[in-house]
Amino acid sequence: MGSARRPCAWASLLWGCLSVVLAQQVTVKHEVTGYLGKRVVLPCNIAVTGPEMKVSQVTWVKEVGGRRQNVAVHHPTHGQSYPMEKNSRRIRFAVNSLTDATLVIEHLLMSDEGTYSCEFATYPNGNELNTTNLIVLAKPTSSAEAMEVKSSNVEQPVAVCTSANGKPPARVTWQSKLNGNSSIKQINNSDGTVTVINRYNLIPTKEANEQQIICLVEHVALPQTESFPVQLSILYAPEVAIDGYDGNWYLTRNDATLVCSARGNPTPIDFSWTTSNGPLPKSVEVQGQRLFVKKVDYSVNTTFICQATNRVGQVSTQQIILVRDQPVKSQSRNVGALAGGIVGGILALAVLGIIVFFILRRRHPRASKGSFDPKTRAFGNGTAQPQTHDFTELDRPLKPATGRKPEEDEDEDDYREEEREERRHPPYGYAPRHREDEEERFDQLGPILRFSPDPHGYDYDDMESQHDGSIISKTAVYV
Ligand SMILES: *[C@@H]1O[C@H](CO)[C@@H](O)[C@H](O)[C@H]1NC(C)=O
Ligand SMILES: *[C@@H]1O[C@H](CO)[C@@H](O)[C@H](O)[C@H]1NC(C)=O
Ligand SMILES: *[C@@H]1O[C@H](CO)[C@@H](O)[C@H](O)[C@H]1NC(C)=O
Ligand SMILES: *[C@@H]1O[C@H](CO)[C@@H](O)[C@H](O)[C@H]1NC(C)=O
Repeated sequence: MGSARRPCAWASLLWGCLSVVLAQQVTVKHEVTGYLGKRVVLPCNIAVTGPEMKVSQVTWVKEVGGRRQNVAVHHPTHGQSYPMEKNSRRIRFAVNSLTDATLVIEHLLMSDEGTYSCEFATYPNGNELNTTNLIVLAKPTSSAEAMEVKSSNVEQPVAVCTSANGKPPARVTWQSKLNGNSSIKQINNSDGTVTVINRYNLIPTKEANEQQIICLVEHVALPQTESFPVQLSILYAPEVAIDGYDGNWYLTRNDATLVCSARGNPTPIDFSWTTSNGPLPKSVEVQGQRLFVKKVDYSVNTTFICQATNRVGQVSTQQIILVRDQPVKSQSRNVGALAGGIVGGILALAVLGIIVFFILRRRHPRASKGSFDPKTRAFGNGTAQPQTHDFTELDRPLKPATGRKPEEDEDEDDYREEEREERRHPPYGYAPRHREDEEERFDQLGPILRFSPDPHGYDYDDMESQHDGSIISKTAVYV
């Protein structure tokens, strides 16, 4: 109150000063915020106006719904008492003083919230008082989790975020790139706190599986926004493909393997192999997803069926195997590639030659006229004569796509690897296959190999349309 009295001396307006002093007799905090379960301090002091001033009693009164309830009383001779909670010791004066009535409340309850009046009975001025609003906040406890749902085309909750027992209610939102929306529900708890439940609704497609969304919780009692990442879990039946048939299973080959690959949620771990005409031939050995052929014989000239199972369903796919008498020669493809490379190089040279020719002709129009023979320049040494390309090399049946990245396939033999490499970097400048195509191929499960009466077993006419850019057309080789 010293600061209040000093301006009075300067102003020397006695009555004005007196009224100001009287108006600010009892200092309190207008509003105090406490946290549920924690301690709170309600400061209250009376300014001593002179040596003659006497305080005969201090009382804290809580005003609840218009009714006044004595919380704490301090009398100079009878001491301190706490009428509202006599023996709890939860509420007490901070110090033993008749001018400092600061009140401490431990283990704050929601019901402690309200208006508290700090009142001094004084002589000679009579009763002096001031009031404090106590606000009790509750820090919410929050969490978020995915709700396991089966893939479908019906919008439904796929994740739930709960912020429990907050006061005031927490602000709960979802951060997501997915095309869903959220629905909020509030529950008023009996202790005055509020539980907020925010569900994220989405059409649960299998593409949404393993996508991440984040629940954000904001609240006055939280130093910063809390975030709870959630990975969605959309259950779907296996999608199965048989991998590993390279079209070159010849008699006595001993490293032939089929792999049944399946994705699904939960990840399928249950695989069973059969053939179209019943049990598996003796020459094969099955280890889970894998089927090993110890030595290729005519008993594996059949259709293998793999069935994958998870909690959602059971799906099977098949692969027709054609056993050959002789292996397919793999060098011819390299010769084809070599020929292509040479032809390409010669073409480039020819173009360069033509450019040089025209430049020279511009500079010396007469001297160079007629001296260029593109044919001899381009094909002079004869090494670039077109080779007959063995189409069988690239005309292997498309295996049903697996949905896995190629790098994950460990069990491909080199032969297969080379083919992949070539598809990724086609030697003749064909555009690489797009992902969408891969996805599409997943749907057309089952073998695509076509048979023809041709001794090589291939349908030449169908080649180009069948293998969208992955094979070398005749025109490309013959330039
Ligand atoms: C009550 O306390 C507030 C804050 O300390 C103060 O501004 C106000 O003047 C006080 N009122 C009285 C009547 O003492
Ligand atoms: C969610 O959004 C879709 C449109 O995107 C709308 O049809 C649907 O009514 C919304 N649901 C809720 C609960 O707002
Ligand atoms: C919860 O309390 C709020 C405000 O006190 C009120 O608007 C709301 O309707 C209540 N909700 C329920 C479900 O009782
Ligand atoms: C292998 O199976 C195919 C049918 O898939 C059949 O046309 C062919 O004759 C069979 N070859 C042998 C040697 O059994």
